[in-house]
Amino acid sequence: MSTQLTLSVLAVASEVYPLVKTGGLADVVGALPGALASEGIAVRTLLPGYPAVLKALDGAAEVFAFPSLYDGPARLLAARVAGLDLLVLEAPHLYQRPGNPYVDPSGHDWPDNAWRFAALARVGAEVACGRTGAPAADLVHAHDWQTGLLPAYLRYEGGPPSVMTIHNLAFQGQFSADVFPTLGLPDAAWSIDGVEYYGGVGMLKAGIALADAVTTVSPSYAAEIRTPAGGMGLDGLLRARGARLFGILNGIDTGVWNPGTDPHLPEHYTVVRPAAKTAAKAALQARLGLAVDPGALLFGVISRLTWQKGLDLVLTALPTLLGAGAQLALLGTGEHALQAGFAAAAKVHPRQIGCLFGYSEEVAHLIQGGADALLIPSRFEPCGLTQLCALRYGTLPVVARAGGLADTVIDCNEMAVAAGDGTGVMFAPTTQEMLETALLTTFRLWRQPALWQKLRRNAMRTDVSWKRPVARYAALFREVVAGRAA
Ligand code: ADP
Ligand code: GLC
Repeated sequence: MSTQLTLSVLAVASEVYPLVKTGGLADVVGALPGALASEGIAVRTLLPGYPAVLKALDGAAEVFAFPSLYDGPARLLAARVAGLDLLVLEAPHLYQRPGNPYVDPSGHDWPDNAWRFAALARVGAEVACGRTGAPAADLVHAHDWQTGLLPAYLRYEGGPPSVMTIHNLAFQGQFSADVFPTLGLPDAAWSIDGVEYYGGVGMLKAGIALADAVTTVSPSYAAEIRTPAGGMGLDGLLRARGARLFGILNGIDTGVWNPGTDPHLPEHYTVVRPAAKTAAKAALQARLGLAVDPGALLFGVISRLTWQKGLDLVLTALPTLLGAGAQLALLGTGEHALQAGFAAAAKVHPRQIGCLFGYSEEVAHLIQGGADALLIPSRFEPCGLTQLCALRYGTLPVVARAGGLADTVIDCNEMAVAAGDGTGVMFAPTTQEMLETALLTTFRLWRQPALWQKLRRNAMRTDVSWKRPVARYAALFREVVAGRAA
């Protein structure tokens, strides 16, 4: 336990595991408060009152009422759920909608997304500045574009300092210029140093420009996004932030992801007693209708099915994978064409390809436990969490050399293997040819059982917990607060 003074942090995000999740953002926002507590940092988390969130609240207390927030009444509720200190913005006209938080049932962005998330940022600023009855914050931690206006409100209103974390630069929250007058920002904010972005409002851009410090979720991604190739239009601004942009790796919750206790596995295993991993493999093969064959190299995929994740390359590399006698277990949701492609391949090769299209925590755990290797051929990857889980489960990650994948997996190249190192297979660039080469490399390693077991032990011994990352967040938060006080 730190001997330093407790800092009070208000985290604001649109997703928090286990209440609402579309990707790794939720995992990180859900895990950081518990991890930061051991550094003497107390986190409250503000999130929108989506139906799933309100349903999970039990005995929530009203903290504050807003007579009108973007044309409807809203309330701020406080509750403790799943070990988290939550503040929930209940605003039925903004958040009481079915399905995914960002898109309507036909898959289009909700037309009022600008106000849905401006409202979240506005209320974050009210709380942080102590205007709601909830305690004020020493520092605000804003996550992704949905909270990008928050550093702007705080900056123009003299609020506490803020740290903006970028989980994915591909989603920027860009809106037309006519949104600006509705945001309650001073005229000065309409500038290249404020929220203006290519003639419109850029929410993530605002956060990057106006936060006291900016972080992203791996050192490699922090470097990539400063380049025109990786910066998605924001590289100039990110370069301008200079040394105020930090790359801090994600961790995973090693209590939730633990093959020694995982309730979704038929038997438990550990690094010193790994034998029961074969029971998970047989269960996974049976679950997805694959041939139950311990000798077949079984690749897993757990992913959003989008261009970012490079799974179209897995489709085109399938002949190589199948030709070598391997199997594929895929869990994912996303683009219809990719889903259709994998479904068609599974129909032709049901004993070698098994797919589940949908969201399932249970099958995600079973794949981590039962697969031999996990495929992650991302075109870009800010951090990636599934490779961290795979390491912990002794499922060798086969990854593109991108972002956080490059920072967390040790490629089994000749020198690494000779030195007794290596935790996975890495390839670059992200092309079909290089993916096929990586698949063949994986086969070569698989055919050497003693080596494979050694690599599996290396993987399982990797520290994928929040321990190191959270010390870096804590140090940064304290530095930012001290910097303002100075
Ligand atoms: P991203 O946030 O870009 O989607 P990450 O690797 O950071 O990628 O995080 C993805 C998270 O979502 C992981 O916790 C992973 O296990 C989970 N996940 C992805 N797809 C599914 C699915 N279909 N079912 C269950 N969990 C999923
Ligand atoms: C984003 C990124 C992913 C990262 C996650 C959590 O969704 O795509 O790489 O792990 O956020 O930070």
